Amino acid sequence: MCTVIIDTDPGVDDALALMMAMNSPDLVVEGITTVGGNATLSDTTDNALRLVEHLQGKQSVMPVAVGADRPLRGSFTHAYHVHGSGGLGVRLPAPTLRPYGMSAADFMCDRAAASAGPLTVIALGPLTNVAAALDTCPELVGALAEIVVMGGAFDVPGNVTPHAEFNIYEDPWAANAVFASGVPATVVGLDVTRQTSMHRRAGPRWFEGASRSAVLGNRILADRFRERDDFQEFYLHDPLAVAAAIDPDVLTCRPAQVTVVTDGEERGRTLATYGEGTARVAVEVDVERAVELVRSLISDNRA
Ligand code: RIB
Ligand code: CA
Repeated sequence: MCTVIIDTDPGVDDALALMMAMNSPDLVVEGITTVGGNATLSDTTDNALRLVEHLQGKQSVMPVAVGADRPLRGSFTHAYHVHGSGGLGVRLPAPTLRPYGMSAADFMCDRAAASAGPLTVIALGPLTNVAAALDTCPELVGALAEIVVMGGAFDVPGNVTPHAEFNIYEDPWAANAVFASGVPATVVGLDVTRQTSMHRRAGPRWFEGASRSAVLGNRILADRFRERDDFQEFYLHDPLAVAAAIDPDVLTCRPAQVTVVTDGEERGRTLATYGEGTARVAVEVDVERAVELVRSLISDNRA
């Protein structure tokens, strides 16, 4: 059993990842923290609240704590062209749930201090909130079991520039601060996430059953493939990070120290010095095992 806080910028792959986490019998989701990135902070927060209410109902007590609307420097470059209007493409009913009465950084510090056991942060967006939390409470480094980061592109091209993956590109300064903090980090980059996907031709029933998560998962994928006829695959970037937190054996990782280029043409490029360091960089993925875990946690037949 793993107790987690999920930091996220929903975002369609974030939505699948959140559904996996909330359905998993192997995770205790302590709370969700929102960050700008794929969409504005207002949209990512609204989407997180809508997803929690859709899956857990109006009585849900899942904390959704609001984080950063901009990176440590500059502003976010949103990706509505990828994720659709509102950041989710599909429209869920307006939420009655309200954000938690604490900032994302304070929520992470508060729950780490109060946690009886190890706490893991699963970071699915720019690392701005995590960097802010480490700045607010440096003792977080020793309190966290690890941070599972969806981010980076080490030996493959980026998806924002030839060098950079989106989450790291959006706030390279925060990423550097997190990787330099000493907190153990499992880094799930495009090197492995691009090997895991749902194919257009496998639809419209990518997920089995009539559960809310299976129906919504199919709606989200169908919307993306309809709106983006150039998409042949829906990459499971964020779902793979959640899968790795649930079943670490889906990944093969190498110890490394990770640094991030912050300026110029190679802004957001992630560099790994392998051999030793506080990071574990994912270099291989058991594709069948990972995709089956994603599918089973969103379908009716739980893993
Ligand atoms: O590069 C993929 C990552 O950027 C995913 O987390 C996706 O949701 C976007 O945030
Ligand atoms: Ca994301």
